Amino acid sequence: MDYQAVLEEVAAHARPFVRQGRVADYIPALERVPADRFGIAVADIHGEVYGVGDWEVPFSVQSISKAFSLALVMGQSHDGHDDIWRRVGREPSGTPFNSLVQLEAEDGIPRNPFINAGALVVTDRLQTLTGDASTSMLHFLREESGNPDLAFDQAVADSEAEHGDRNAALAHFMASFGNLENPVPSVIEHYFWQCSIEMSCRDLAVAGGFLARHGLRADGSRLLEAREAKRINAVMLTCGTYDAAGEFAYRVGLPAKSGVGGGIIAVIPGRCTLCVWSPGLDARGNSVAGAAALDHFTTLTGWSVF
Ligand code: DON
Repeated sequence: MDYQAVLEEVAAHARPFVRQGRVADYIPALERVPADRFGIAVADIHGEVYGVGDWEVPFSVQSISKAFSLALVMGQSHDGHDDIWRRVGREPSGTPFNSLVQLEAEDGIPRNPFINAGALVVTDRLQTLTGDASTSMLHFLREESGNPDLAFDQAVADSEAEHGDRNAALAHFMASFGNLENPVPSVIEHYFWQCSIEMSCRDLAVAGGFLARHGLRADGSRLLEAREAKRINAVMLTCGTYDAAGEFAYRVGLPAKSGVGGGIIAVIPGRCTLCVWSPGLDARGNSVAGAAALDHFTTLTGWSVF
């Protein structure tokens, strides 16, 4: 497969969609990103990387971090020996990523680890397991991406904390059901920090390689059992793009995780990991040009999981 040629064609297809949608502004620091950015990268399972456009420009990972926090929790507490799946479900929510409505009827157990409520539970667990959830994620991402310069963006973390009433409400509500192990201020702080990490398409495609390598890290050591990597990919497919996950599976047919920074990672198990970035979002919080690009990638290559 000539990845570079495929990416050029995908980028040309996606160009008309760039600037469509809206750059996220509910976290004011995110609004400063130029809407005309577009980048895409592919990392194959051997670590070869290809990219087009703004593929080396760092952006705010936001909810893409939720795939990595889940992997870190699962990696530290193998199957059946952790209670994470008693505290968070594995069903699509069908509601917006920051919705409160299901939590009361479902006793403070979030539908899945990729909506904000579920990610707060996972971050809480990672905090218990590591003593410093956000720093352990940053170190993991530096190692897996091979980029020692990865860092938090303090302005984004502060901006999110200043406008973080919704996430604080989700966390307090779950705490009232006994579904947090750590104090709410500490959980939301680590969650905001993990979301603020800045990475490029290149960094994310490489760092997500373990999801395509059935759980093996870049250095060949094992983060996850193959069945655990499969489970994360399955939950990405069904829940990774929120209330648009059905449409995304229909169009793209790959496990994927999006973020309101405009990035989306997607996994082709056994082959490669992709990351695409363009800041304009649709009403559900997914990058418009990013989704168009991944749609075209699977059309050109025939590489969906179906
Ligand atoms: O908690 C939030 O609202 C953001 N830090 C992350 C949300 C997000 O990326 C959802 N994405 N589509």
